[in-house]
Amino acid sequence: MEEISSRIWDGMDYIPGVFDEWVADEEGEFTAVLLDGALVGCAKLTYLAPAHAWLEGLRKDPRVREPGLARAATRHLLARVAARPGVASVRFSTYLENRASMAANEALGFRRIAVLSRKAWEGSAADCARLPLLTGEEARREVGPVADAGAVRAYLEGSGYLAASGGMLVDGWRALPPVPECIDSRCAAGGACRGVWRGGRLAGLCISGIDRAAGRAVATVACLDAEDGGIINALFDDLLLRLAADGPAAQGPRGPSGHGAAAPPGGSGTPWRSIEWMVPELPRLARLCAARGLASDLQERDFFVYGLPLERLAEAAG
Ligand SMILES: CC(C)(COP(=O)(O)OP(=O)(O)OC[C@H]1O[C@@H](n2cnc3c(N)ncnc32)[C@H](O)[C@@H]1OP(=O)(O)O)[C@@H](O)C(=O)NCCC(=O)NCCS
Repeated sequence: MEEISSRIWDGMDYIPGVFDEWVADEEGEFTAVLLDGALVGCAKLTYLAPAHAWLEGLRKDPRVREPGLARAATRHLLARVAARPGVASVRFSTYLENRASMAANEALGFRRIAVLSRKAWEGSAADCARLPLLTGEEARREVGPVADAGAVRAYLEGSGYLAASGGMLVDGWRALPPVPECIDSRCAAGGACRGVWRGGRLAGLCISGIDRAAGRAVATVACLDAEDGGIINALFDDLLLRLAADGPAAQGPRGPSGHGAAAPPGGSGTPWRSIEWMVPELPRLARLCAARGLASDLQERDFFVYGLPLERLAEAAG
């Protein structure tokens, strides 16, 4: 599988990094796809919460011409989902350019349920340390860890952030249902939730994970929002400072980061920093991204979440 991955997305596929974790997942399934007995691809079923199925990791060896892998692998996983009682959602995400994945899944009955904009910044650790901070120390001192999951849920709902994300919390390439299991684990992970309190309630919130390995630090933002521009900037500055700092361990739970997390141009030993955020369509967040140099690859509205209407599940599973 490592060999196959090396031929996908210029070798930046994330599967090698999550392989062991995926094999160990006993609730979902990591499926090998064989053609005449030889490994040609894979697919993964993950339960983000007990009732919420997530499809990911669909891969086919680009040297294989045989069509139909996406459809066959997805049907196989959907049959697993159909056999599980009480499933409330079956979803996956994909990128604008991924026509094969969209075509195969639309043919099975999946419908697009959310459109966001993937925004990213990447550069050397030195570039990151040079990025200007837009707030003073006093404003940044107001930002602190948030462990109160109820307050986080209330903020996500009241701020309109969840609604603008199609009712999901999009964390990297995974769109989490806003059920307590998903939100609470973010709050429990040290450093993942940071916020600003005003009058006993959250006035701004940043949910992020910083994944560190071999001089690299990759920040994935699942939410960054606030009721005023000053707080938004303080939260972003707080994220930048945490990203720029050298730290030994990952903060917060990490899912796959999609089409290969930023690979340092100078090789894996180069200190490298990146930020990735699937941004919902809210003008205040568009302003923040423009001001902080977070940009789209090709265009805005390039990240899609698909869902399968549950009445189509049995038929789609074949
Ligand atoms: C995605 C991937 C697994 C698809 O494998 P596959 O064997 O080609 O898949 P299928 O043949 O089952 O389905 C592909 C469908 O897309 C269609 N398709 C392929 N390229 C297309 C394009 N550029 N535009 C429109 N449709 C396209 C095919 O005709 C087929 O539809 P059909 O069955 O109705 O004819 C494979 O391309 C791959 O590994 N890509 C790299 C990794 C990746 O992108 N993974 C998905 C992440 S979301």
